[in-house]
Amino acid sequence: MTQRAWWRDAVIYQVYPRSWADADGDGIGDLPGVTARLGHLTWLGVDALWLSPFYTSPQRDAGYDVSDYRDVDPRFGTLADFDTLLARAHELGLRVIVDLVPNHTSSDHPWFQEAVNSAPDSPERSRYLFRDGRGPNGDEPPNNWTSTFGGPGWTRITEPDGRPGQWYLHLFDVSQPDLDWTNPDVRDELESVLRFWLDRGVDGFRIDVAHGLVKTDGLPDAHAPHGFLTDPTDQSPMWDQPGVHDVYRRWRQVTEEYSRLGEDPGGGAGPWAANDRDRILCAEAWVKPAGALARYVRGDELHQSFNFEFLMTPWLAQDLRNTITETLTAAEDVGAPQTWVLSNHDVVRHATRLGYAQTPGLKQPRGIGAGDPQPDAALGLRRARAATTVMLALPGSAYLYQGEELGLPEATRLPDDVRQDPTWERSNHTEHGRDGCRVPMPWEGSTPSLGFGPGPKAWLPQPPEYGALAVDRQRGVQGSTLELYRELLSLRRELRLGAGSLTWYDAGSDDVLAFTTSAADGSAVLVLANLGSSPVRLPNGARVLAASSPDVTAEQGVPIDTAVWAEIDHRD
Ligand code: GLC
Repeated sequence: MTQRAWWRDAVIYQVYPRSWADADGDGIGDLPGVTARLGHLTWLGVDALWLSPFYTSPQRDAGYDVSDYRDVDPRFGTLADFDTLLARAHELGLRVIVDLVPNHTSSDHPWFQEAVNSAPDSPERSRYLFRDGRGPNGDEPPNNWTSTFGGPGWTRITEPDGRPGQWYLHLFDVSQPDLDWTNPDVRDELESVLRFWLDRGVDGFRIDVAHGLVKTDGLPDAHAPHGFLTDPTDQSPMWDQPGVHDVYRRWRQVTEEYSRLGEDPGGGAGPWAANDRDRILCAEAWVKPAGALARYVRGDELHQSFNFEFLMTPWLAQDLRNTITETLTAAEDVGAPQTWVLSNHDVVRHATRLGYAQTPGLKQPRGIGAGDPQPDAALGLRRARAATTVMLALPGSAYLYQGEELGLPEATRLPDDVRQDPTWERSNHTEHGRDGCRVPMPWEGSTPSLGFGPGPKAWLPQPPEYGALAVDRQRGVQGSTLELYRELLSLRRELRLGAGSLTWYDAGSDDVLAFTTSAADGSAVLVLANLGSSPVRLPNGARVLAASSPDVTAEQGVPIDTAVWAEIDHRD
């Protein structure tokens, strides 16, 4: 029997380094902090961690603005700290995925500095998308593209001779100039960066804005104004252009080279067999429909792509059925596994999102402020636990975002003057942005920064309700969200649900999301979530294996906003 590649059903936990654990007490999380807390991940039972960027960066977009792709920012530690983290993770049996930001560099990157200090037609400038402006004096932007953080997508520079000069494209912050992927220098450089981290022994990459690298030739005006990253607009000239796939075919060849090496070239190989050392690539691509997204995971391209459609689907049974069916079909068409995700560092945490009324076509909020309608926290948590219970039973791989295992809500009442997400300023204070999901982790309920660091500092204030949700308040407590995650992860592994195959199950009501999936021993596991308005009975003889709320009983059935895993047909 051929071995199933590890990433096809892996559970991968996203660590946002600045907010996970702060070893040196400066209020910003760091790599030694991550290393010190890796035990949490093995205890929880995940397969891998993905680290958001820790590279040298002025941090104008929390590290997604890289000025040196081959070094660690002093705020986060050193390259030696990274090597220690990686070796320790591998010893513990955890794979490590790092973030690659290929669409843009920081404006502090030496390449961009060289570009602005060189002539308009110089090779230095041709690594970015510099263009002359429109209008008689070139004082209008070259086209109508906007930044996904708000405001124009172009900024004009002053030429070295002091005259108003060319414009450069930035689909994100003004400090994040887009690279020109038609330039071979750019392709070679980013490939060399891949190799740099592969040589150190990483197990893969999450590719930032993977759908943005290549733009339509001639940079034509967009027909419709394109919005925020989470609102992909079909046929935008800046997103999802066919040329991106050439880049990923090349990168797949690079990772295949390393996968064939088996052993970890950087040392600290971990407990895996030599033929179980695939290095993987996962796309962050806000692309619709599912068929277009599946093109990123064709056999000779990337291994995975985030399934953001699942994250964006409201808590409505029919909508979820549609999304799950479409995404499974699209992935199967190209032989790729599906991935599932409910939260990350760019979206409102699902325990909060689901605390609002759910309606078809619901637009997901882009940050919440103290003056906005506040969620029903208890309802949100109840639904979040149910949503996770569904997600972890779906075939494929799942991504978790730090703190969701605690049921952390979004920090919805952050004072506006502590906000750091560039979205807040660039949208003229109309979008609160993403700080609310990035608040430092609570590890201990009663210490000053809730165990985030040795002292009281935390780069964003932790809301009062985080204390009671801290790791030490939930560990070992029956019925806690943390113990629910641990139980689900352990059962998922034991039953090999990630390798299962899904069949929809008619539970007698459209408001019930139900499917069976095959467990490792061939038995069927029924996964049933009640999204209706009255309790639902389980089939006769069903034995509950796990439930998102403790109030499931044979007599009462499955209460509203609750999901269960139940054994229904055991064949010996
Ligand atoms: C991705 C990141 C986000 C960042 C943006 C620009 O969407 O997840 O945090 O702001 O890219 O790099």
